[in-house]
Amino acid sequence: MPAQIYHGTPQNLRRLAQVLRRGGLVAVPTETVYGLAANALDAKACRQIFRAKRRPANDPLIVHVADLRMLARIAAPNDAVAKLARAFWPGPLTLVLARISAVPDVVTAGLPSVAVRMPAHPLLRRLLRLCNLPLAAPSANPFGYLSPTTAEHVQAGLGRSIAHILDGGPCRHGLESTIVDIRDPRRPVLLRPGVITAAQLRRVLGVAVRTATRRRTARLPALAPGLLHRHYSPRQPLVTKPRITAAMVERAHSDEAWICFRKPAWADGRKNIFWLSARGDLREAGRQLFALLRRLDHGGWRRLHAELVPANGAGLAINDRLRRAAAPRG
Ligand code: TXA
Ligand code: MG
Repeated sequence: MPAQIYHGTPQNLRRLAQVLRRGGLVAVPTETVYGLAANALDAKACRQIFRAKRRPANDPLIVHVADLRMLARIAAPNDAVAKLARAFWPGPLTLVLARISAVPDVVTAGLPSVAVRMPAHPLLRRLLRLCNLPLAAPSANPFGYLSPTTAEHVQAGLGRSIAHILDGGPCRHGLESTIVDIRDPRRPVLLRPGVITAAQLRRVLGVAVRTATRRRTARLPALAPGLLHRHYSPRQPLVTKPRITAAMVERAHSDEAWICFRKPAWADGRKNIFWLSARGDLREAGRQLFALLRRLDHGGWRRLHAELVPANGAGLAINDRLRRAAAPRG
């Protein structure tokens, strides 16, 4: 039986809060991507998340909180948290902090740290307040596949393994949150780029933000398991291109699809040309990325080509996701 999709009426929210309080799973909308939520303080409930997603146990979960009081139930804040919270919360920023012992091992995959974020989506905020519990929630997709940005995407990927989906409409950002490890506030480390950039973090923190390179994470795989190289992947092969030109398209088979950043002047009359934002807006491109990849993944194309976008603002996160989606299978 498929999952039931609920609209955010007060009555439905009360019902779903009850499901969470009793140890159940609910797929929830956030401003980034949809998440699959459970009570973060209930190890048994969190184990079900891993089962439903077929997620390996060594990939820790992000915990969502309503406010800083709730954060103090799971993590030890420092000065940097207060600064970043004032600037960016509620919003698409996840902080890796020292965990406190109430957090079950299954949530953090046994790490001494816990990833926390205060989401901005109004329905999830209401749900967090109603159940008054921190909610562990990874993206609501089968492990390794593209993140869902609508309730229908969640239904398509997990509908047979979960019972409840809260529909909050299409996600505003469409890209997963920025993750930064600030356990040492003088040496913050960016673990995953998102719409909040390292440059923005640096302006608020007053110190440089290092990027976790693959080399560094290869030496320390347990510290940033989410940086698995291949991730967010369509089933069809995907190749990134610095630029897509009409000549390239003409040389290729007609059953290959081309994803441009903006609408090319030569697109008209060609059925295999797609774009992330007609007018070249990075925010819109971010919002469309996973939805378009998903649609094309089911479109019978033999191969997808995606053009890298300008490397600033949300563009850094878009290019990161495109490169991961294009990484060789293995
Ligand atoms: O926008 C988001 O962050 C969405 C929504 C639902 O909030 N969530 C999300 O979760 O993208 P997920 O599980 O797909 O990605 C979270 C990543 C994981 O890959 C995990 O490795 C990393 O966060 N992570 C979680 N806890 C960590 C920790 N203590 N240290 C380092 N990385 C951690
Ligand atoms: Mg994910």
